[in-house]
Amino acid sequence: MESTLIFLIFCAISISASPIQDSSIDGYSLDVSDPLTNDSIVKMASHRYAGIIARVFQTNTTSFDKSMVSTLTNSVANRLRVEGYMAPTMLANLNGPDQFDKVYDGLRANNLVNLNAIWIQVNDTKLFSKYTADNVWFIDSIVQRGLQHNFNIGIFTNAKMWKKITGNYLGLPATVRLWYWANNGEGVYREGAPNFNDFVAFGSWTSPDMKQFAVKELVDGAIVNRNVFVVRKS
Ligand SMILES: *[C@@H]1O[C@H](CO)[C@@H](O)[C@H](O)[C@H]1NC(C)=O
Ligand SMILES: *[C@@H]1O[C@H](CO)[C@@H](O)[C@H](O)[C@H]1NC(C)=O
Ligand SMILES: *[C@@H]1O[C@H](CO)[C@@H](O)[C@H](O)[C@H]1NC(C)=O
Repeated sequence: MESTLIFLIFCAISISASPIQDSSIDGYSLDVSDPLTNDSIVKMASHRYAGIIARVFQTNTTSFDKSMVSTLTNSVANRLRVEGYMAPTMLANLNGPDQFDKVYDGLRANNLVNLNAIWIQVNDTKLFSKYTADNVWFIDSIVQRGLQHNFNIGIFTNAKMWKKITGNYLGLPATVRLWYWANNGEGVYREGAPNFNDFVAFGSWTSPDMKQFAVKELVDGAIVNRNVFVVRKS
């Protein structure tokens, strides 16, 4: 009895104190579309979430998402790896580079141009044309503008959506990162695996940078999506 108890205590301590167990990943991060309170951010950081990826663009109004500024600023202050994501749309009157510039101008006005990366979502077919060549042209134009502004740029997609929207375009610059999703829907019971073991090369990516494995979960008082990431060496 006593030895069982000691064993259980030992297990509990080693679980809570263990570093990330899968050596193929460098950390966990959270992506959010609604503002986080500072209290949530402080707790997330203390629970070993290393990064926050916040929505920086309101697709409906094709404008910078001002509501996320305090989330970004407080995440930076808490020494997290802070990134932004946007879902650009071909349905708007603004072209791709101008949509990126909305984000750039908003970040610059709030002293946030040092974000670690900006991710472009290529996932919702409703925001794109049915012609893959038009979509490739649009996506390329946004990526180029992002690179001109000296951001690390990545794409949020998965193999199926990348094929559907771009016809499996192979022409992105090698520096463009990949954040793919692999989960079965919302909630803990529909999580994918928190590692990259399921990754199969597609497009021009032979390895991923980040994976969204969990959608709409409650973490430290906020509804978030959870990710694993690796740090690019170059
Ligand atoms: C956020 O919380 C941290 C830790 O409690 C504190 O040091 C910091 O001042 C807070 N920032 C804001 C903007 O409230
Ligand atoms: C964007 O517009 C659509 C359709 O009008 C609406 O259903 C959706 O809730 C809006 N999304 C946001 C984030 O405002
Ligand atoms: C990506 O697309 C899939 C399939 O339509 C959808 O289930 C998922 O919610 C989308 N993810 C995001 C972040 O938009």
